[in-house]
Amino acid sequence: MFLRLYRSSQNLHFSKLKSRVFSSQVFLKPENISNKSTIFSATLGGVGLGIYLHLNSTIYSDAADEGLHPPSYPWDHNSPFSTFDHASIRRGYQVYQEVCAACHSLDRIAFRNLIDVSHTEDEVKTIVEGIEVEDGPNDIGDMFQRPGKPSDYLPRPYPNEEAARAANAGAYPPDLSLIVKGRHGGADYIFALLTGYYDPPPGIEVREGLYYNPYFAGGAIAMARALYDGIVEYEDGTPATTSQMAKDVATFLSWASEPEHDERKKLGLKAVTILTGLFVLSIWLKRFKWTPLKTRKIIYNPPK
Ligand code: HEC
Repeated sequence: MFLRLYRSSQNLHFSKLKSRVFSSQVFLKPENISNKSTIFSATLGGVGLGIYLHLNSTIYSDAADEGLHPPSYPWDHNSPFSTFDHASIRRGYQVYQEVCAACHSLDRIAFRNLIDVSHTEDEVKTIVEGIEVEDGPNDIGDMFQRPGKPSDYLPRPYPNEEAARAANAGAYPPDLSLIVKGRHGGADYIFALLTGYYDPPPGIEVREGLYYNPYFAGGAIAMARALYDGIVEYEDGTPATTSQMAKDVATFLSWASEPEHDERKKLGLKAVTILTGLFVLSIWLKRFKWTPLKTRKIIYNPPK
């Protein structure tokens, strides 16, 4: 096979890619010395094209169009061995309820999901007693209001997308359940976005009703700055600075996007430990079974 490829490379009617793959063989043959420069330039061209395509797709970006890349923050749950900071989830839930829930829904989280994560069962029962939920239809076909149950999902601020757009100058506040998974940068992006409101730099015009935020794609977002120092009062006494609230709500939303996170890491650790043990055992077993075969000596005594 190599001989055939080698021959076909001699007449030089091959693509750049092929030339990269087989050129080293060709170099080694002294009789091909006349083709050397052609092959060298073809290889260089191929490598150059590869580098160009690589850089173009992964590194090139336009901060104005795609948004500024958020920095990486040292989240408590970053390491493969760490869980969420649950006190932070609890504070983040408070921030979500007191600030974000005025505009954003969180459709995939039910009150019962908070039990043993950020609140006790009794606390959750107290929370849901305070809300009214529409249920029904009843025996005579009417919808009715009843007190909440832990199995109810968090209520939405608007009945539908049209109402949400109408109340927000045409922009739709997205559901936040999966926003950490749904945005490049995840929790880093949420934190950077919430703390990234600045005055527009000279020369940048921001349309009426939009706010300058370099982390948002396009640089102008329809959501006004939502967090200001001290707008919530944490029950655990943590000072409610803008960045503290942004960190807590980003942690809460990370949990909402991946409630199985802690369990997943715990299970992963167990699985890796057990599988490593089994792997070592399987190597030992393989050697044990093969040793007699591999160390035997076969002697042929030709008939005299
Ligand atoms: C006054 C209403 C309002 C409040 C309060 C509010 N938002 Fe928003 N939010 C919006 C609107 C409107 C958009 C859509 C912006 C756009 O598309 O330009 C939005 C968009 C977002 C986005 C998506 C950005 C993207 O990349 O598409 C995130 C994340 C977000 N908000 C998080 C929050 C968090 C967290 C809070 C609470 C701290 C919050 N918002 C409070 C109205 C609000």
